[in-house]
Amino acid sequence: MSQDVIEHIAPVINSGFIGEGPKNVLFENELKRTLDYQNVLTLNSGTSALHLAYHLAINHDRDAEIITPSMTCSATNVPIVANGARIVWADIDPISGNIDPNHLESLITKKTKAITVVHWGGNPADLDKINQIAHKYNIKVIEDAAHAIGATYKGKKIGCHSDYIAFSFQAIKHLTTIDGGALAIRLNDDFKRAKLLRWFGIDRNASSKHDLRCEIDVKEAGYKFHMNDVNASVGLSNIKFLDDLIAKHRINAQYFDLEFSGYQGKIKLANQTANSKSSYWLYTIHVDNRDELMARLSQEGIMSSKVHSPNHRHTMFANFNRHLPATDIFEKTHLCIPVGWWLTEDDRQKIVEKVIRYAK
Ligand SMILES: Cc1ncc(COP(=O)(O)O)c(C=O)c1O
Repeated sequence: MSQDVIEHIAPVINSGFIGEGPKNVLFENELKRTLDYQNVLTLNSGTSALHLAYHLAINHDRDAEIITPSMTCSATNVPIVANGARIVWADIDPISGNIDPNHLESLITKKTKAITVVHWGGNPADLDKINQIAHKYNIKVIEDAAHAIGATYKGKKIGCHSDYIAFSFQAIKHLTTIDGGALAIRLNDDFKRAKLLRWFGIDRNASSKHDLRCEIDVKEAGYKFHMNDVNASVGLSNIKFLDDLIAKHRINAQYFDLEFSGYQGKIKLANQTANSKSSYWLYTIHVDNRDELMARLSQEGIMSSKVHSPNHRHTMFANFNRHLPATDIFEKTHLCIPVGWWLTEDDRQKIVEKVIRYAK
């Protein structure tokens, strides 16, 4: 959290205007500049951004199917069922955790409306291949970029490569607004529609002669997904530090890459591809004794985590069950070790030493 955040939010709280207003416009503009993309909407969470993307892709079709990975935050997939669509699980690469484009075509049916791509830990998936397949079948690509703000694919920031790109500014993300999110949208018509849908379907820019917007017809039922000015001012305060912060994550990741490179027999790493540059929200390693390593690290005062668990095993998704062998492998071996900007050189050294000592 930026040290000047209180200075930023105090005037807003006392201004008499704490809803979606001028601070939100400023924050949205900062995001546009940061992502180098114009069609960006701030929202109250990454989950809302995904919900809105699914709404646009599914477009009220009650038979719709969405192809999506299971190894992710449940927020990737809960909004699919909330939009009345069916989930078709796609398997992943067992090391990177990203969706495996080689299996996608076999999952596409006449009902498929979109493919969801999660950039695990901020490491961009193979967007060219996935978009080519989607294009061939005239379906949408939705990127869950909750981990991936600042990551690049083919030299361009994540946010401009697909139809819909959802970001999260929740408490522990690179950029936090306490809670918040954003959706980048390729088509202008979709963007205009989404702007209405983020606030019930009402046009906030419209004014009626007599009484606020009371005389204006609302054509499509939307949501209460807008970002308020208090959260936007937290975002304005924090976004100044985003580049520095991601750079620190990357330096820590480079250090780990180098230190672990001599131990490939027991520590496997998800390498970036020639096209991708990770934002390293997570640093993921794979070891055969994951649970034991996690316990050992904990005894040494190092917190590590699996971060997410396979969604397809949850009762709420029981209707969509499917065998996902690579997801099973990933889930048995993966572990995320601390990589954040807050690590000192001593922290990093200690992490490396203990991981190498206990990994098998
Ligand atoms: C992969 C992924 N998608 C979506 C979300 C949802 O974001 P939010 O918490 O902002 O709703 C998260 C949040 O942690 C996430 O990790």
